[in-house]
This record gives sequence, structure tokens and C-alpha cells, in this order.
Amino acid sequence: MKRHVLIVLIAFLFLAANAQKFENIAKTPPMGWNSWNKYGCNVSESLIMGMADAMVSSGMKDAGYEYVVIDDCWQVARDDNGEIVADNDRFPHGIKYLADYIHSKGLKFGIYSCAGTLTCAGRPAGRGHEYQDALTYAHWGVDYLKYDWCNTGTQEPKSSYTTMRDGLFAAHRPIVFSICEWGSNKPWEWAGAVGNLWRTTGDIDDSWNVMIGIFLQQKDLARYAGPGHWNDPDMLEVGNGGMTTEEYKTHFSLWCMLASPLMAGNDLQNMSPETKSILLNKEIIALDQDSLGKQAICWRDNGDYQIWLKILSNNEKAICLLNSSDEKKTVLVDFALLAQAKAARWGAASPLKLENFTVRDLWDHKDLMLKESSMYIDLLPHTVKVYRFIKK
Ligand code: GAL
Repeated sequence: MKRHVLIVLIAFLFLAANAQKFENIAKTPPMGWNSWNKYGCNVSESLIMGMADAMVSSGMKDAGYEYVVIDDCWQVARDDNGEIVADNDRFPHGIKYLADYIHSKGLKFGIYSCAGTLTCAGRPAGRGHEYQDALTYAHWGVDYLKYDWCNTGTQEPKSSYTTMRDGLFAAHRPIVFSICEWGSNKPWEWAGAVGNLWRTTGDIDDSWNVMIGIFLQQKDLARYAGPGHWNDPDMLEVGNGGMTTEEYKTHFSLWCMLASPLMAGNDLQNMSPETKSILLNKEIIALDQDSLGKQAICWRDNGDYQIWLKILSNNEKAICLLNSSDEKKTVLVDFALLAQAKAARWGAASPLKLENFTVRDLWDHKDLMLKESSMYIDLLPHTVKVYRFIKK
């Protein structure tokens, strides 16, 4: 074989091996913590290290949360070589030091930038520096990059995000690429080949109305989600104080039904028992992290009472009853029909029979004792019931 042919072949195999690595990230929706919802621009080395410590000590790491992500405002300038410069007062040991610390805890490290000239908070952003920044991030040990869409002028989203994606590829470090374009350019239609997750809406807020509004906007997006590429209805507000415990349970359940990325946005160092019982509900998390990667569909829509269905691996499924109204509802739930729900919608060969399943309430952590196949269930305002049909 001629020498140059051999060189080309080796280069190809090298690139193919790396491309392969990239395909193996975010196989299930990424889980972690992000600074923005609670702390905004008030980020620092001590804050992020404290959150990493708390992620381990609170049991979050054991429950699957792994990325610790600094959002906007860590960056202040570019130096004479165009290198991005971190805020030295707030990050006195530099970003690599922080990444090393987070890695030493068995966690992964994420950072934020933006496709435009400036970030949304007006800090230096990535435009024109994509490959350079990707190399810097890889050198620092970044595992996750959230990439925003402010100050983009006439930039075209798909090509802008593709440039950064190619920069990350060229830096040869598998980095989860989180596209934050807010949904206005329908990223679900093009982002599956570009990033691992893409925001589908504007920003979440710590309020019932905004949260439930965002949820309802996810209704037609199920077919775009799957292993390696997820719809992102924004980060969690659980524990931030603007909703009731029941509303936070609803928020968390709905996000898990949607196979959404689960980025906690609260103070992990000071969590109430209620907040912990939500963020650490492993049975609900298991729906989100199911290996099939199917996003729930709205199976019955009666306006403010809806039934959502998530197909799980092993022919199991989860059902979420949602009362988004301000009044209590008593609903007759036909579990035999719900057992068949998959068969009806996906044309399975034989109908799935209720007697082959245990129905488990994932908030009560109990199996239902069904005397008949239907039963009346009370749903308080703004609450859910989440059931898993587990094969006997
Ligand atoms: C927004 C983004 C938020 C946060 C913020 C930072 O555009 O949606 O999640 O990252 O910018 O300035």
C-alpha cells in the first residue's frame, strides 16, 4: 500500500473512532445541575464547588445526576490571542481547576457560551471563535456545552450551531452539545444531527403558569426525541420556592414523562425533605432514563384533564394523569383500557392484558390493589398521578 494511502486510511480510522465516541453520549437524557435558575450571574468557584459537593452528599449523584454546569457570566473578556478569559475574581484558580475538582468527585463539568457576538448577559460569546473555544473547552475538561442564541443578528441557526458542533468534533473530546435557541426556528426539525438536546421554548420561570405552559408546548414533539437527541423544555425549578410541593411533583413528573434533560436549578446545599423526595424519586427518574428513550404522548386530551402515555423498554409503560385545572377532579380510570393503550396506538400483535401487569403508583411507592379494572381517582388541582405498568 502506498504511504499516502496508508496515512489517509489511518486518519480516516482515527476520525471514525472519534465520531463513534460522540455517538455514545447522551444516550439517555442528561441529568445534572445548572446555576442559572437560582443564581443568575452570581456564579463563583466556591458556589460551583459547593454544589458539586452537595450533589454527592445529597444522594443526587447516586440517583443519576452527573453534570455540574456553570451558566452565563463566568467569562469577562478575550485576551490578545482571542482566548476567552474567565472572571478572575470569581474563579481565582481558573476553570480547569474547577473542572478537575468536579471530575475528582466522579462528576462531569459543563459550561455555557452563545452563538452570537455576546452572551445573553452581555459577556464575550463564541461567534468567530468556535474552533478556538472548542479547543479551550476540551483542554479544560469540559464535558457539556450549553450554547445560547443571543446577539446573533442575521446568523442562520442551523449553520451557526453546526460550526460549533464541528469545532467540538475537531477538538476530539466528547462534549454533550446543548442547543439553546428557544424553539423559534423549530430546532427539533434540524438539531437532531447537530446537538444532543435543544431548547423548545423560551425560558422557564418558577411559576405554575409558565411551567405548565411550556409543558403543553411539547405535545407534538415526541417523534423528534430519542437516544442522543432530546427535546429540552428547559431546566428544573423544583425547590426554588415559587410553586407548591404538589406543583413541583407535577413539574418533575411531566419532565420525566417527556424524557427531558433533568437539570436541577435549586440550591443543592439546602434542600428541604420535600425537595429531596422529588428530585430523588428514583422510580420517576427511571421513566426519564428508560433506555428506549421515548417521549410521552398525550393519549387523551380533555383540556385540563389529560392522560399521558410513555412507552418503556421491556414492553412496559407509564401513565400520567394530569389535572392542570384549579379544581379537584374525580375521574374514572379504566386500567384495563390503559393496559391496552400501547396495542391500540402502535398496532401490537396481541392486546396487552391488565392481568399481566402490576400497576404501581410512583409517588405513593405502592402497587395498586385493583378490585376491579376501573376505579375512581381523586386528582387535586395542579396534581398528577403517575403509574407504571410493570410486567408480572
Ligand atoms: C437565556 C437562556 C437561559 C440562560 C440565560 C443566560 O437565553 O435561555 O437558560 O442561559 O440566557 O443569560
